[in-house]
Amino acid sequence: MCKPVVKWVGGKRQLINDIKNNMPKKFNRYFEPFIGGGAVFFELKQENSFINDYNPELTNLYEIIKTRPKELIRDLKKHINNEEYYYKLRALDREPTKYKRKSKVKKASRFIFLNKTGYNGLYRVNRKGQNNVPYGRYINPTIFEEENILKCSKLLQSTTITTGDFEQIREYIKEGDFIYFDPPYVPLNATSNFTAYTDKGFDDDMQFRLKELCDYIDSIGAYFLLSNSYTDFILDLYKDYGIVIVEANRALNCKSTGRGKIKEVLVKNY
Ligand SMILES: C[S@@+](CC[C@H](N)C(=O)[O-])C[C@H]1O[C@@H](n2cnc3c(N)ncnc32)[C@H](O)[C@@H]1O
Repeated sequence: MCKPVVKWVGGKRQLINDIKNNMPKKFNRYFEPFIGGGAVFFELKQENSFINDYNPELTNLYEIIKTRPKELIRDLKKHINNEEYYYKLRALDREPTKYKRKSKVKKASRFIFLNKTGYNGLYRVNRKGQNNVPYGRYINPTIFEEENILKCSKLLQSTTITTGDFEQIREYIKEGDFIYFDPPYVPLNATSNFTAYTDKGFDDDMQFRLKELCDYIDSIGAYFLLSNSYTDFILDLYKDYGIVIVEANRALNCKSTGRGKIKEVLVKNY
């Protein structure tokens, strides 16, 4: 067993069964270009997979878990969970040249600590790229589990990790491969959704570009499964493919759409 090492907005843990039930029965390699917290990837545990994210701090974390797990664990043990320490560690990115010189292990360790002790497991940076998530005030949060990091490291040994836009996976995909897309969702309305994972955002043009990649995947005989919101825009964009409606609890939508379950879609080409 291995499980995600960070909390991630839009994490797919609660939809794991729906996702598994809707996967192709047989495929070659697994790709997840919007890896985030990796709930699906860590559940599937497929050898020889490809994972990617636009967030370089996140992909650095996976790279370090893959290549230097013991050093990471050693550093993680040094953190102290109190407010003063949190803000001191958070402030390191206020001096970019100094921060750049920090080791990749230190950066990965800081990333996990801020994620587990910051408010709601959010990842949020301001225009200058400075983390601005407030301290979470959790009593005894689990920062990391040593065993789990070692297990994830084992799985990652055969995984290719890339950083950047989702489209760069195009050149790697071959017939029979399976790609699970979990992009930032199309907003339900102007204020309801959290889409600011990156400084670039994820607008309609990005959604069109993703659909074109799906068409390409379909044309070469590979498989895709895509999560998104249940909106007219998505239903129309993917009308030529199979659409399954699923339900999820989405805390960040609560204010504008009321508590309880929210409909989402799974789109597939098989
Ligand atoms: C909905 S989250 C994925 C959640 C993940 N499935 C989980 O279970 O935690 C979307 C991810 O897409 C990444 N992202 C945003 N724009 C991107 C882009 N253009 N290319 C690749 N990744 C991007 C964000 O950094 C974020 O981690």
